[in-house]
Amino acid sequence: MKVAVLGAAGGIGQALSLLLNTQLPSGSELSLYDVAPVVPGVAVDLSHIPTGVAVKGFGKDDLADALTGCDIVLIPAGVPRKPGMDRSDLFNINAGIVKSLVEAIADNCPEACVGIITNPVNTTVAIAAETLKAKGVYNKNKLFGVTTLDVIRAETFVAELKGLNVESVHVPVIGGHSGTTILPLLSQVDGVEFSDEEVASLTTRIQNAGTEVVEAKAGGGSATLSMGQAAARFCLSLVDAMKGQNVVEYTYVETNSDDAEFFSHPVRLGPNGVEEILSYGDLSDFEQKAKEDMLEGLRGDIKLGQDFVNG
Ligand code: NAD
Ligand code: LMR
Repeated sequence: MKVAVLGAAGGIGQALSLLLNTQLPSGSELSLYDVAPVVPGVAVDLSHIPTGVAVKGFGKDDLADALTGCDIVLIPAGVPRKPGMDRSDLFNINAGIVKSLVEAIADNCPEACVGIITNPVNTTVAIAAETLKAKGVYNKNKLFGVTTLDVIRAETFVAELKGLNVESVHVPVIGGHSGTTILPLLSQVDGVEFSDEEVASLTTRIQNAGTEVVEAKAGGGSATLSMGQAAARFCLSLVDAMKGQNVVEYTYVETNSDDAEFFSHPVRLGPNGVEEILSYGDLSDFEQKAKEDMLEGLRGDIKLGQDFVNG
């Protein structure tokens, strides 16, 4: 298995690379690419940990070499939020970064599964899709917006509130990855009852969890460690699926459903990426209304990405 992390010297990139170095199957290769000059040092640092993973760093002129032969490419490259910003405020800088990195993927490893972490995810995934289409190599089964952080946060907050072992709590989160487009389905949490007040306050907390971190870091960036863990979980699930295991993750993929062109669903992963997009099931009245209220915004975020590439 060869995995590349683009933006590997950043906050997420370093945490993610550490987790992948210690958890990818023995014999895997890990390519670390960044425009920051520290990236070869990050690779040397990681390579001193005794694991069966071969780590190599690639500087700004070596993107093609970093990507050649990759099975999975994860992209956390780009700028994070500061207090007072929305994820959409990152569009001006991050849209171009994602487009140029995805062009290189199309040229060097067009068959790879690609996980987009760079915000605004609602839009950058659409940018990636249109970029791959323009290159003639788009496969909707191999492009993912990584929304796993919303799931692990939802599970943590529910377990905390109800005094449960978090290992046994599973919370579906559908939609997108920004504000009200993040829609936790608390009505589907097995064996747990919530009052209307709890549903309202937990939903808001899950939707604003990214902002909670941005404010707590007070100008020092956004979630990096929890995102590293979330992206590692997603990547390792993809690896398991590629090896033939039956794995389901919530992820933002092209669905072409009545909801929106891209939408987080439970997805059965397989050797070729998306094996099957599963139904997210029945919604409560609260969830149905929350979904209807956010769809227009999500569709607008997607269109912004499509227009960025197609003019
Ligand atoms: P960071 O500033 O710590 O790191 C970003 C890295 O990207 C830096 O090392 C930088 O040199 C690198 N970079 C910039 N342009 C590049 C390019 N063209 N090619 C390769 N590398 C490049 O930021 P971070 O905290 O790691 O966050 C990265 C992104 O992830 C942000 O956009 C943030 O909003 C997003 N994010 C997404 C989620 C999610 O749930 N999907 C969660 C947290 C953060
Ligand atoms: C998050 O959810 O933590 C990320 O999308 C980063 C952010 O800007 O909130």
